[in-house]
Amino acid sequence: MNNSQWWKRAVIYEIAAVSFQDSNGDGKGDLPGLKRRIEYIRWLGVDTVWLTPIFRSPFLDLGYDIVDFCSVDPTFGTLDDFDQILTELHNNNIHLILDFVPNHTSDRHAWFGESRSSRSNPRHDWYIWADPAPNGGPPNNWLSRFGGSAWEWDEGRRQYYYHSFLVQQPDLNWRCAEVRAAMFDVMRFWLRRGVDGFRVDASAVLIKDDLLRDNPKNQRGGKNTPPPERLKPVFTDDRPETMDSIENIRAVIDEFGDRVLAGEVQGEITRIGHFYGNDRPRFHLPLNFALIDSEWDALSLQAMIDAYLNAIPQGAWPDWIIGGHDKKRIASQIGQPQARILAMLFLTLKGTPFFFAGDEIGMEQVAIPDERVRDPFEKLVGGYGLNRDPERSPMPWDHSSNGGFSSGEPWLPMGDIAVRNVEMLKADERSLLWLYRRLIGLRHQETILSEGAYEPLRSRNDVLAYKRVQGQDEMLVLLNLAHEPRQWEWQGNGTLLLSTHLDRDEQPLEGPTLLRSDEGLIIRLAQ
Ligand code: GLC
Repeated sequence: MNNSQWWKRAVIYEIAAVSFQDSNGDGKGDLPGLKRRIEYIRWLGVDTVWLTPIFRSPFLDLGYDIVDFCSVDPTFGTLDDFDQILTELHNNNIHLILDFVPNHTSDRHAWFGESRSSRSNPRHDWYIWADPAPNGGPPNNWLSRFGGSAWEWDEGRRQYYYHSFLVQQPDLNWRCAEVRAAMFDVMRFWLRRGVDGFRVDASAVLIKDDLLRDNPKNQRGGKNTPPPERLKPVFTDDRPETMDSIENIRAVIDEFGDRVLAGEVQGEITRIGHFYGNDRPRFHLPLNFALIDSEWDALSLQAMIDAYLNAIPQGAWPDWIIGGHDKKRIASQIGQPQARILAMLFLTLKGTPFFFAGDEIGMEQVAIPDERVRDPFEKLVGGYGLNRDPERSPMPWDHSSNGGFSSGEPWLPMGDIAVRNVEMLKADERSLLWLYRRLIGLRHQETILSEGAYEPLRSRNDVLAYKRVQGQDEMLVLLNLAHEPRQWEWQGNGTLLLSTHLDRDEQPLEGPTLLRSDEGLIIRLAQ
């Protein structure tokens, strides 16, 4: 494997700085706080951190509403704090990737101020402006993902502007060459500072249909479908012109070499392949959420893995995501015993694993009382279980008040700190946290786990089974999805490298194998 493709061997840890560690008692995590926790990140063993937006922002949408792309918001610290963190991470052989939010700005961004000021301003076409429909209403039926029409009337220009998300997040016009150039310079600003790549936000919606054709009705939608999904986003998402822009974004990354481009993509799993590109490359890693969306049983997981691997082009590098700032904590859905199976699964599959800070301690959805809801998605499209605050709750570090996260009132309620915190799990060498650490360590130590071929076996009897193979070396992974013991029939022998229970490692083992309830095993087969 090419040495410069470090991201193929990486284990990527997503951090929302606001929920990681506060240093000044304002209840919000910040960069000096994060700096203090680099030691923990090192101990855990991850080699890449993805940081959600830390740029100047009114923070209406977790910082995805940006006022200045080349700055650090004072809530988080300074550019100097950022540089220090980057240096310290690099000194510890940890890469850092940032969120790049090309689709929209905050409505308080100076560019928008200029664009809305008049139709003759030099930046008049930096955003998507359109005249009203003949009846004076919005130009077409396009819907904002955060509810209501995606068009907002602007009295000054007497035109509508388009926003895929919040009214306060106007979409940039990626058809405008100056916008593209300005955004490529944003990338270069951070790449020159030394960041190792980007996760590109909302990349599938960059360009919208230029005829402004109406989206058709979502025929599968019912009364439980959130209103923004009642139309099929045919003319707003995944347009061919968008692919061209993604290729240009990739070209900027390639100016620097040895960096990575991951992309948030939408749509059916069958569409994921084209986000890799063909003659002109697109993303190294279009983010794959299939694991989060899968039913939790051996046969469904086996089918999901196959469907995903079939959907990506030959030679494309897979990736697996188990959590994120927009996704419900999976431990709440599958339960703590199976959270161990999940850990062994996604850290032994072929492809770059991503997880969200807190997944390694089994963080669950935290209940948010109505008066503390922060997520605009929930405020604007409430009642459909869309609130993203429950997974964004701050990291519980220890037993002290506010879990050691902050000396002030945390920006979101915290879960039951006494049940689960880092300090407590670190003290127990059989905990989920230790399992993460052991699995990450094993993945780094055994190249077969990152580079080896993936060979499915026929899963039966609630056991998901596959091999990783590299030359003569073979590892067998057996995952018991049942809360009861299960037998796995096989002949031969090997060495048990790791059990999810962390109580019987490095033992000789012969098939057939009895898996205890909720147990997963990694076995190195004798050659
Ligand atoms: C992406 C982000 C999400 C945000 C949206 C608008 O989907 O992951 O958190 O709300 O973009 O920027």
